[in-house]
Amino acid sequence: MGIGRSAVWKLIRSLEELGMEVFALRGKGYKLADPVDFLEKARVLESIDQEQRCSMAGLEVHASLDSTNRFLLDRIDGELPSGFVCLAEHQSRGRGRRGRSWISPFASNLYLSIFWRFDMAGQSLSGLSLAAGVAVARVLAAEGVAGIGLKWPNDVLWDQRKLAGILVEISGEYTGACNVVVGVGLNVNMPPAAGETIDQPWVDLRTVTGQTYDRNVLAGRLIQELVIVFTEFASRGLDERLLAEWEALDVVRGRSISLLTGQGEVTGTAMGLDETGSLLVSVDGRTQRFFSGEVSLRF
Ligand code: BTN
Repeated sequence: MGIGRSAVWKLIRSLEELGMEVFALRGKGYKLADPVDFLEKARVLESIDQEQRCSMAGLEVHASLDSTNRFLLDRIDGELPSGFVCLAEHQSRGRGRRGRSWISPFASNLYLSIFWRFDMAGQSLSGLSLAAGVAVARVLAAEGVAGIGLKWPNDVLWDQRKLAGILVEISGEYTGACNVVVGVGLNVNMPPAAGETIDQPWVDLRTVTGQTYDRNVLAGRLIQELVIVFTEFASRGLDERLLAEWEALDVVRGRSISLLTGQGEVTGTAMGLDETGSLLVSVDGRTQRFFSGEVSLRF
């Protein structure tokens, strides 16, 4: 290839910086821990049914972005059409809930965001993040992943460890139509070195089922299910069916929890959800309702 050892070494280092696992084999060269199957737009689209594909306004696959959510949010003021989706192989500043970062090594997991415009006021959108959690859980169940649970509002857990996270960001007027970006990060095949940098209990699909996954197919199915629930949500909000599906996967109901809110920490017993998707917590015998916060199990 006309380049020397040190140039190869530098390129290998840059792969490692993107979060890929590379082994040096004495006298032979370098080897990837796993074969890489890149995301390809055409293969993602193949896994989406015609009906939902028609509701999409476009799909972009990027090698690296700071954050797929940020990428779409920055484009909302232009002519970004509702139903636009973007995927990235790597995020340099993946964003999690409550200002956390989302560790996003190259070509290992899924990082996708979808932009949707809802003709409803911001308050009515509070249930949307729960609906998105239902969509992700449906895809995992259809893949045969047993034991999936949801922790309010939308952490997708397996054995109390985070398998997927959802970040809903709303832009625009809180009273009129709302522009929403929903980002999903799904741990598919987390390289161990990247996993060590995650500051909360986590798990990936490979560990859960021992299988390898075609990320293109998974991405397509996630987009398909998100489009289905967003379409349903746009016409009926968080309806009884979505709410019942969410409640069937609730891992905190009846458990002793602490809830970190903007006003401080509350401890009590999780009592499920009200009809808007707010969390009900029994605190000293009185049931209180919470619109946002971070739940942790106490015992
Ligand atoms: C959480 O903290 O649970 C939410 C994590 C959301 C991560 C996804 S990855 C794709 C999208 N882009 C981001 O920067 N964040 C979301």
